[in-house]
Amino acid sequence: MNDQLTEFPCSFVIFGATGNLASKKLIPALCRLEEAERLPDGMQFIAIGRREWDDDGWKDHMRSLLREKLQDRFNETVCERFAARFSYLRGELHELDMYQRLGAELSRPRSGVCSNVIFYLSIKPTDFPSVIKNLDKSGLSRPRGLHRVVVEKPFGEDIESAQALNRLLHEHFDEQQIFRIDHYLGKDTVQNLLVFRFANTLIEPLWNRNFIDHIQITAAETMGIENRADYYDKAGALRDMLQNHLMQLLTVVAMEPPPVFDADALRDEKVKVLRSVRPISMRSVNAHSFRAQYAAGSIDGMSVPGYQAEPGVEPKSITETFVAAKFYIDNWRWRGVPFYLRTGKRLKEAKSMVAIRLRHPPQQLFRSTPLEVVSPNWIILSIQPEDCMRMEVHVKQPGLEMNTRVISLNASYRREDEMPLDAYETLLLDVVHGDRTLFIRFDEVEWAWRVVDPIVKSWAVERDFIHTYAAGTWGPLEANRLFDDEDQDWRNYL
Ligand code: BG6
Repeated sequence: MNDQLTEFPCSFVIFGATGNLASKKLIPALCRLEEAERLPDGMQFIAIGRREWDDDGWKDHMRSLLREKLQDRFNETVCERFAARFSYLRGELHELDMYQRLGAELSRPRSGVCSNVIFYLSIKPTDFPSVIKNLDKSGLSRPRGLHRVVVEKPFGEDIESAQALNRLLHEHFDEQQIFRIDHYLGKDTVQNLLVFRFANTLIEPLWNRNFIDHIQITAAETMGIENRADYYDKAGALRDMLQNHLMQLLTVVAMEPPPVFDADALRDEKVKVLRSVRPISMRSVNAHSFRAQYAAGSIDGMSVPGYQAEPGVEPKSITETFVAAKFYIDNWRWRGVPFYLRTGKRLKEAKSMVAIRLRHPPQQLFRSTPLEVVSPNWIILSIQPEDCMRMEVHVKQPGLEMNTRVISLNASYRREDEMPLDAYETLLLDVVHGDRTLFIRFDEVEWAWRVVDPIVKSWAVERDFIHTYAAGTWGPLEANRLFDDEDQDWRNYL
């Protein structure tokens, strides 16, 4: 619809500009796009925050955060060019007056012709409704169909609130204007997974229940909740990571090839996967999911406090910082193959990957040799810290004995001189260009909520106990109870 308009300069309004996400991801990614000369000339940014700053105060803050985040890549000239695009607006999200001042700021004549506006909601989900209503009351959502609104995850806190939020958005914006972001979809390995699966004849024939024993999807972090207790203590790992990032990875791993490579065809296939996930009955929530919370421990040799001692966390909070869950996809391709999903904060290593374990060969041909039982093959798709793909195969060790070793067929696609992109760089540029392929359609959000809903509901009432794990470990051993077979175990290494 309004895709051509974005070639003209646009204004980019960041709600929550002083928050954790804006500082860690958004502002550095936008600055790298400035460096790559990918921001349209005349594009202006308005940062909204509660701190008592003027434009210069904001710019000083931004310079120091960019210096810290970009380190060796920090470039003074680029930073100044980028800072010159910014103005700062102080205000409270629920005060109409702030939106009126924003309106005045947006209509101030500048060098470019700012025809449309991107509103980026880098704020707590509980603040979304207030911002959307105030955009409308102050006339900033009009003319209808023109501007874009980017909504960060989690979209709602359960299925009902997600539906209510969606209805509210649709009262003021058309679907083409709404960009529901899940930055995992902007990660290179995730996009490469589609190429790996659908551009190679070698892979696709193996990608099903006949050859695959189970699939593990892990997003492990060493960091704690930083200064986000206000949000995290209400969300927990299930809402913060599993319902969105991990579910999105699951859909990309499990989907059928779409008829064409476009936003809707791709999203149709992802929705089909979510609709095929076997519903978990309330009675079987414990057999399918596991939660835990970090206790004090040490990360890289440094002592760190437990979750309940983090500033802002409710005393005796039972919010989960670790979640593991098992899902089955009841379709022809995947019936019977368990998908184990796991994420946690303050774990031993920061590592996100999809690990696919293939079945044992049907015949144990080497039973009478020193080799005896051959361990199964794995395909590893690592998202971070390295983005790489590898397939493990057995080969004979040179020598007189019949012994094997495992070698990796390395399908890494990045050369050493090729800089990795941050997911936000890709996605922010897509917003500017109006490309929604890597953004989430509401039915995906809704079905992902449906999948986890029994877990959400059951954990909401079972509030008297949570397992703990020492910070710096891989989480409690009790999580292993999810495995269907004794020979299944978490794969923690690349
Ligand atoms: C965010 C979560 O969406 O993703 C954070 O809110 C989490 O809690 C982050 O730390 C992880 O992102 P990445 O790209 O560092 O894996």
